[in-house]
Amino acid sequence: MTAEEALKWVEQRFGATAAIASSFGLEDVVLLELASKHAPSVKVFTLDTGRLPAETYELIDRLRERYGVKFETFFPNTHAVEELVTGKGHFSFRQSVELRKECCGIRKVEPLSRALAGRAAWVTGLRREQAATRAAVEVTEQDAAHGGIWKINPLAEWTQRQCWDFVKEHHLPVNALHQQGYPSIGCGPCTRAVKPGEDVRAGRWWWESPDHKECGLHLPAPDGGTK
Ligand code: ADX
Ligand code: SF4
Repeated sequence: MTAEEALKWVEQRFGATAAIASSFGLEDVVLLELASKHAPSVKVFTLDTGRLPAETYELIDRLRERYGVKFETFFPNTHAVEELVTGKGHFSFRQSVELRKECCGIRKVEPLSRALAGRAAWVTGLRREQAATRAAVEVTEQDAAHGGIWKINPLAEWTQRQCWDFVKEHHLPVNALHQQGYPSIGCGPCTRAVKPGEDVRAGRWWWESPDHKECGLHLPAPDGGTK
């Protein structure tokens, strides 16, 4: 299935009961453009962790205007963030993988469960090439981590080069940090620029080993897949 075919299938089968998860990175900009043509009823949501770089917010508003779409925005639970920061400070995630996962759990994973409540399917910008942890990603999967709903990854087989070619061909705005050496962008304090030749996700949680570098949004099933 091509990306276009996957999105057309989502539109026909799920319509407004499906949603695209967007962090407004390179892949998500490609997805938004494709979805505007092939899956116009599918909603778009974003998880605002409260720690996103200013460049991401600037892009969100540019895209909001370009597509005339209100991106559904999910924030972390106020009480949970208050307790985390009061008890452990603003950078607890640097101290251990467990504390990093605690922060991602509060700021991303719990809001994702609310964003997906009542949905039949979700669409992501995951690509196999991005990481060893993503090598088995399929275009269509059933997401065991979220009650078995459909998870569609239209760009699973795309390369980074293909995404850039698409962005240039369609004159799409992208996050200004991409031009400053950030191929993958998440929260400000957990993302940095990569050096030439480094892995695309080397700048995410750079102090951790690559096997841990998933925040919990995309949990594999025990057999290694998400089916
Ligand atoms: S992450 O899990 O390490 O943060 P990554 O930044 O590579 O993931 O993004 C992969 C896909 O996960 C994105 O294309 C998007 O579908 C989804 N995603 C990641 N972060 C968010 C977010 N903050 N809000 C909504 N979707 C997100
Ligand atoms: Fe917290 Fe960093 Fe995870 Fe963002 S990426 S939720 S700041 S640990």
